[in-house]
Amino acid sequence: MNGFYFSCIGCGATFSLSENIYSCSRCGDLIQIEVPIDDVKEKIDLRALRRLPISVWKYAPLLPIADLSKVVTLHEGGTGLHHCRRLGSLLGLEHLYVKNEGENPTGSFKDRGMTVGITRALEMGARSVICASTGNTAASLAAYSAKAGLNRIVLIPSGKIAYGKLAQAIVYGAQIVQIKGNFDEALKLVFEICSRNREIYLLNSVNPFRIEGQKTLAYEVCDQLNRHPDYFIIPVGNAGNISAAWKGFTEYYNLDQIEAKPKMVGVQAEGAAPIAEAVAKRSLTITSINKPETIATAIRIGAPVSWKKALRAIYDSEGTALTVSDEEILEAQSLLARVEGLFVEPASAAPIAALKKLREESYFSKEDYVVCVTTGHGLKDPDVISRLYEKPVEVEAEVSSIERILGLAKTAETLAAQYT
Ligand SMILES: Cc1ncc(COP(=O)(O)O)c(C=O)c1O
Ligand SMILES: [Zn+2]
Repeated sequence: MNGFYFSCIGCGATFSLSENIYSCSRCGDLIQIEVPIDDVKEKIDLRALRRLPISVWKYAPLLPIADLSKVVTLHEGGTGLHHCRRLGSLLGLEHLYVKNEGENPTGSFKDRGMTVGITRALEMGARSVICASTGNTAASLAAYSAKAGLNRIVLIPSGKIAYGKLAQAIVYGAQIVQIKGNFDEALKLVFEICSRNREIYLLNSVNPFRIEGQKTLAYEVCDQLNRHPDYFIIPVGNAGNISAAWKGFTEYYNLDQIEAKPKMVGVQAEGAAPIAEAVAKRSLTITSINKPETIATAIRIGAPVSWKKALRAIYDSEGTALTVSDEEILEAQSLLARVEGLFVEPASAAPIAALKKLREESYFSKEDYVVCVTTGHGLKDPDVISRLYEKPVEVEAEVSSIERILGLAKTAETLAAQYT
């Protein structure tokens, strides 16, 4: 459908989608894509749309891609919304859900944005794409550009990248450049490379097409719940995903598909929390952190590019932001795996850690619909597990040794009792 256009979130200037821009050419602020809400209401049967099986591209009428024959897809979206009854009963919540984005093709939510971003890159005639990444964007960009036949370049920070993610980028054939610096520095370099080499298409979440794909997370949750969540709890790094989800809820609300919007709750790690710190002071700007540190490498970001959109999402929704420690993150990772069978990477466990804190403050009531987003699969970061958990014990290959280890070994008396 036509009628989509860019708008600047700072000065309000508007631009045609045919322009190849990532920020406002008047004031430099972030841009977003506006959906023609009235046109959609008039021309699209949203009720029929909502009955279709969920996937990113089911929402094509709400996405800014005109020619659907060019779509580059690995069948992203349609992830599980798990009703966590056991975890909920531990926390006193009847309607606790986990939207498990680790079920996407490359194991993280990034695929929702990448399918749209790579499709746009083809539309723009790009031959090469690039991103800076803490790992998951690199894996996703590499997979989708392989599918599209594009050259793929990723800049990753020195050290501190989870091995599973690096392995993905390697296997999908990306040119990987590790820089002696952190994610924030890598992203600055990517901007500079793209401004010097206009033929390379930038695919970090500052690219509004990525955000358009990622907003389908919110549509899906509403379609799966058949209502809006009361609270939506999500980890925050560069702040693209919380901005995207809020955009999705706002659009669904404006399209009369939900009766209210959720309160957005952003969760950051203690050592990398510029947004949570700003919210604690009710500030309208953030102070960047020079040396962000956390075990949750995916959210080890000190200068989130989409901070302004994230603060708006939190303040406009009357939500909040908070921090969790690395210890709380790891505890939550283990808890979610052990009581719900969901193995997520450390960054994704941050919302689960936050749940406990918020419940202790009586932030929710028992009947509220609370949705936590787990953004990436646990197998992405196996090192954390092998470092922190005990290794399996090796025994002789015989029943008695195994029974002894399992505490099943029987004494002569118990055996006698069994057979008399
Ligand atoms: C697993 C995971 N969770 C959360 C995030 C943070 O998302 P955003 O940067 O959009 O805030 C990332 C970003 O890389 C991620 O990989
Ligand atoms: Zn502007």
